[in-house]
Amino acid sequence: MVLKMNKEEVIAIIGGTGDQGFGLALRWAKAGKHIIIGSRRKEKAEAAVARIKSILGEEVKVEGYENSEAASKADIVVLTVPFFGMINIIKSIRESLKKGCIFIDVTVPLASNIGGKPTRTLGVWQGSAAELARELLPKNVKVAAAFKEVSAEALQDLNSEVDSDTIICSDDEEAKKTVFNLVKLIPGMKAIDGGKLENSRIVEQLTALLIGINIRYKSHRAGIRITKIKKE
Ligand SMILES: NC(=O)c1ccc[n+]([C@@H]2O[C@H](COP(=O)([O-])OP(=O)(O)OC[C@H]3O[C@@H](n4cnc5c(N)ncnc54)[C@H](OP(=O)(O)O)[C@@H]3O)[C@@H](O)[C@H]2O)c1
Repeated sequence: MVLKMNKEEVIAIIGGTGDQGFGLALRWAKAGKHIIIGSRRKEKAEAAVARIKSILGEEVKVEGYENSEAASKADIVVLTVPFFGMINIIKSIRESLKKGCIFIDVTVPLASNIGGKPTRTLGVWQGSAAELARELLPKNVKVAAAFKEVSAEALQDLNSEVDSDTIICSDDEEAKKTVFNLVKLIPGMKAIDGGKLENSRIVEQLTALLIGINIRYKSHRAGIRITKIKKE
């Protein structure tokens, strides 16, 4: 009898050279996942890979490519770029995405993207950055919003647990399940089912609120916890 092996999932992090994407890459690489760092410049992606290997060791499965090449190789694509660059980046990678891949949007439309305050969000016609991504992406791509209210500094500090929940919003059950499994790999995090993708507009507001809380409490790691629920 021939046993069917599950093909190893490849996760591309578009903008993985930046704070949030790098933190997620570190956590998932440490957990043994195969990670591709995407950047507008391949050399920058390779420099981020070298940094990850210097922290976690040479044996981790991490590679670096230009964004569209990174996207073309992945089963799961995570978008961690500033809202300002989001539309151009999605347009630059959407033809390269594998049919049926899972796309996790982490972007937040902070007003600081256009010179305003990071404690406020911008109005997005589609309702949220995640819904804008949905509109720009091919129909066969499964979109979820997650990690928008999780601190990059907490993700990057491998000596501490992240100590934060993340609310996952998606209209696709498979995408939601995939993100739930990725959250389980990060110590101190819990995934919360936030319902439909349109609820990401509420989560994106939370990020702006947390930035204000960070400023008032002189922290960079404020997060949220949803309490008194049974189901994981
Ligand atoms: N930092 C946090 O604590 C945090 C927490 C929750 C959510 N987020 C959200 O996650 C996203 C990424 O945050 P971040 O702090 O990691 O951002 P970042 O460090 O400023 O940028 C991430 C990467 O995006 C690429 N990039 C920068 N400007 C761009 C532009 N104009 N067009 C296209 N690509 C550009 C760069 O990669 P290359 O130069 O290599 O292409 C950069 O390394 C944002 O939407 C943010 O609101 C951040």
